[in-house]
Amino acid sequence: MKLFDVYPINPIHIARAQGSYVWDNHGQQYLDMYGGHAVISIGHTHPHWTQSITEQLNQIAFYSNSVQIPLQQQLADKLGQVSGKTDYQLFLCNSGAEANENALKLASFHTNRKKIVAFSKAFHGRTSLAVSATDNKQYIAPVNETDNVIFLPFNDEAELKALFEFEGEQIAAVIIEGIQGVGGINIATPSFLQLIRSLCDQYGSVYIADSVQCGYGRSGKFFSHDHAGVDADIYTMAKGMGNGFPVAGIIIAPHIAPKYFMLGTTFGGNHLACAAALAVLDVIDQEQLIDNARETGEYLMNALRQIAPLQHVRGHGLMIGFDVPESIASLKKHLLEQYHIFTGEAKPNVIRLLPSLALNRAEADAFLTAIQQAIKDLQPS
Ligand SMILES: Cc1ncc(COP(=O)(O)O)c(C=O)c1O
Repeated sequence: MKLFDVYPINPIHIARAQGSYVWDNHGQQYLDMYGGHAVISIGHTHPHWTQSITEQLNQIAFYSNSVQIPLQQQLADKLGQVSGKTDYQLFLCNSGAEANENALKLASFHTNRKKIVAFSKAFHGRTSLAVSATDNKQYIAPVNETDNVIFLPFNDEAELKALFEFEGEQIAAVIIEGIQGVGGINIATPSFLQLIRSLCDQYGSVYIADSVQCGYGRSGKFFSHDHAGVDADIYTMAKGMGNGFPVAGIIIAPHIAPKYFMLGTTFGGNHLACAAALAVLDVIDQEQLIDNARETGEYLMNALRQIAPLQHVRGHGLMIGFDVPESIASLKKHLLEQYHIFTGEAKPNVIRLLPSLALNRAEADAFLTAIQQAIKDLQPS
């Protein structure tokens, strides 16, 4: 049987990983500034995480949501403590798209409305409503085409106000990434997020903070929306939540009431996933990784701003992007092939850095030295 060929992949077989490093099957070490697409939050194979999962595996891996799973409440308590959203309600699922799908569906149930507002360059996942709210025609199958999603320009306050004045009473939800990831590290302005909050309050719509990539401490605060001092009605989470173990969830403000069967899942909230997610929060808390993300991120961004050909260095914490000029367009490939450093990208010319939140100064320095040398190789003066 062949694999269904949907990913353009690097010809590298990663066999082992630890902290901010991975090794291929020939023993070559790579610095992981990509975090396996923003997934690695506490560092690869963190000993507390592997131990928690292993111990859980030896007890019970899975039982369905038809019985009590006390680990779910433990996870909710810890998540409330670390995120500060103690009065929210947790629903667990398995992936970022599924988290957004559930959030959008819940908003529609809650408001009894159909219209969703999303923004240019948004990415919310591949499932039906999540992909309809994603601004990329390549991902949208004919069956996902809908008039229920309205796209507006990102950070355009006038357009948002005008839309709400025109049809605010039809709008179930506004969904927005606090920092767009796939779209190229575009930061929502605090005033834009505050406007979304006030319009959602005024018109009874639901503010959904897609925090799948920019959440879980990556931005130097638990949720990137916290930088704007606003509380969303629903936060969606995945990637960093399990440090590579598939687990996702949404947290829901207290005024949105649950009803039996409105949401559901077979695998969501299983014992193993909860053990992995709890271990991640323990480590984020104990090792103060949110502070580390903020400090190391600022250090990296300040240094990157001194590297002349790189343009528009931007981000928060360890979610960083910069534009690469055409003359050194192969920088990402060169970093991987010659310097054994994984980075992320956003088309057409953005390099994205999404390393583990435990990235230390020495690793940041190793990256900075390598990128300067790589630029010199490509642009000899
Ligand atoms: C902001 C955002 N939302 C949703 C998703 C979808 O997550 P998943 O691939 O786990 O379904 C992604 C994935 O990259 C994302 O970056």
